[in-house]
Amino acid sequence: MANAIEVENLVLRYGKNVALNGISFGVPEGTVLGVLGPNGAGKTTAVRILATLLQATSGRAEVFGLDVAKKANEVRSMIGLTGQFAAVDEYLTGYENLEMVGRLFGLKKAEARRRADELLARFDLEYARDRTAKQYSGGMRRRLDIAASLIGRPRVVFLDEPTTGLDPRSRIGMWEFISDLVKDGTTILLTTQYLEEADRLADSIIVLDKGSIIAEGTADHLKAQVGGERLEFVLIDASDRERAEKILTPIGVDAPAYDAQTRRITVSVGEGADDLTEALVQMKQANIGVVDVGLRRPNLDDVFLSLTGHATEADAAVEEAK
Ligand SMILES: Nc1ncnc2c1ncn2[C@@H]1O[C@H](COP(=O)(O)OP(=O)(O)OP(=O)(O)O)[C@@H](O)[C@H]1O
Ligand SMILES: [Mg+2]
Repeated sequence: MANAIEVENLVLRYGKNVALNGISFGVPEGTVLGVLGPNGAGKTTAVRILATLLQATSGRAEVFGLDVAKKANEVRSMIGLTGQFAAVDEYLTGYENLEMVGRLFGLKKAEARRRADELLARFDLEYARDRTAKQYSGGMRRRLDIAASLIGRPRVVFLDEPTTGLDPRSRIGMWEFISDLVKDGTTILLTTQYLEEADRLADSIIVLDKGSIIAEGTADHLKAQVGGERLEFVLIDASDRERAEKILTPIGVDAPAYDAQTRRITVSVGEGADDLTEALVQMKQANIGVVDVGLRRPNLDDVFLSLTGHATEADAAVEEAK
């Protein structure tokens, strides 16, 4: 199948500052590409170029075979863009916002209205239909913004950090909306700072750092690179160490590591929750007391640390994702 999005050697310089340093990727139609990266990686820059809002310094970017720089109008009619910061009109109601966007998109009045109501229902905003966007919460604005980007039934949708700043419940809701879009056959390019989000939604992932792709593949592939999940046990009694190691060695995929100061014993595992259960049962049978038990999944920080040798800027958003 042809790629819905095709990018080759894309470069964007702001003076001496290189925002994109020659990136290439393709997104097959009907799939989701996750673009993962810390602040300043170049995610928004790549999205803006693809959405025809920014001209690349060099390289090629195409949507359904159309060059975004040369065929901007045609490209615009096929895409939906939701920016990192919601672009809704504060003084219009949710319904009016959608109706306006529909009219701007060229829909007849009746059609724009029908579509507005349809999208409000789809994004659980019916109850706030006649409230001005000013009175919407951050999560509601995000939903309204995405709804607006879908007015013209775009075949390709760009979502720039759709869940940054949302509470966990709204985040899960947003994931469901995005999954529904995928079911409809929409091609999606999604940027995020959360590995978990890319994990849930993306068919393939590219990891951007300082304008370059430093890794790509499926979520499993990336996690395997950082060593997968780890089981952690904190022993009550340090003298149980050897027996605990004996139990964990066959369960883990590497040798258990022990930290004497914290009495913490950790091991990488392949089966996550199943391995955790197995280890717990055996520890209990052996009468080994533990203060704390956990299954630690690699997060974006682990991916970055492992891939680049430097951590992401430990900002609040990334901390919160742990
Ligand atoms: N208008 C601009 N002028 C100069 N430099 C810019 C401009 N916009 C972005 N940059 C720089 O380009 C680089 C990439 O920025 P970009 O906004 O694409 O990152 P990002 O991955 O979207 O980050 P974030 O997660 O914070 O949204 C950064 O170094 C940024 O400082
Ligand atoms: Mg950005």
